Amino acid sequence: MKVFNFGSINIDMVYRVPHLVQPGETLSSRSLETVLGGKGANQSVALARAGIDVRHIGRIGKSDQWAAEQMQAAGVDMQGVESVDGPSGHAIIQVDDSGENSIILHGGANQSFDRGVLEQRLSEAAPGDWLLMQNECNDIAEAFEIARQRQMSIAFNPAPMTAAVRQLPLAQCDVLIVNETEAADLAETDDPDEALAILAQRYPDTRLVLTLGSRGALLQYEGQQVSEAAVPVDVVDTTGAGDTFVGYFLAGLMQGLAERDALQRACRAAALSVTVAGATPSIPTLAEVDSTQDD
Ligand code: RIB
Repeated sequence: MKVFNFGSINIDMVYRVPHLVQPGETLSSRSLETVLGGKGANQSVALARAGIDVRHIGRIGKSDQWAAEQMQAAGVDMQGVESVDGPSGHAIIQVDDSGENSIILHGGANQSFDRGVLEQRLSEAAPGDWLLMQNECNDIAEAFEIARQRQMSIAFNPAPMTAAVRQLPLAQCDVLIVNETEAADLAETDDPDEALAILAQRYPDTRLVLTLGSRGALLQYEGQQVSEAAVPVDVVDTTGAGDTFVGYFLAGLMQGLAERDALQRACRAAALSVTVAGATPSIPTLAEVDSTQDD
């Protein structure tokens, strides 16, 4: 079983700041680092580091081959990634002293897909393979359709949330992973428990995961609810923690872990990731995650 991850590849420009810049304020940063990121790339790297066979479907600007090389070095199959003229996707990320972030995205090459490209990239997918998606590329609806035609399982992390997500056939998702903001948007309520109940009713055959940041995560499936507390850690940078969680959770299911164990391992992986700066640089290996098991 393999994951085809149709997802963004971003160049992350990470500025360390004393606080997130306020409207009308000009703020000097303490440092600037340029690293590989993008929710898609981060999740592919997390899957690969968790030991999963993952092929990335994406696009990157010709001048940013170093980023593609880093994904390959992490173990991601890059046969579905095309180098294109024009800019890669990029993200301008502020990280404050508490490790909190704020992100501006530019879609670039991540927004240049069409149905033909996706059909070609998914032509090698077999029934039972997974299609994983986030919401940083265009033509997500087309990818849903192709995945169903090819009898793939679908995992979706609708981040960042947009109005268009509500029009997607989310009941087709085998796994839907949302944070509190995304859940509130989809369910139209700010109460996380209520949101989970509404979404569980709306998508009865979907494993629904609600990530709660420093409070852990909840899983709703077949009428059962499983919760997992976050592991307390010293936070350096939360960027990419959600992506680490997604990759490790899906990997856990694919590796035959019980839902509770997959959730628990994903929480430990996400906790480790926030102790290191940067998106992909912070994603731990399976050995690192396993070494925290008895902490
Ligand atoms: O989830 C973190 C990611 O969001 C960053 O790597 C950035 O590229 C944005 O896509």
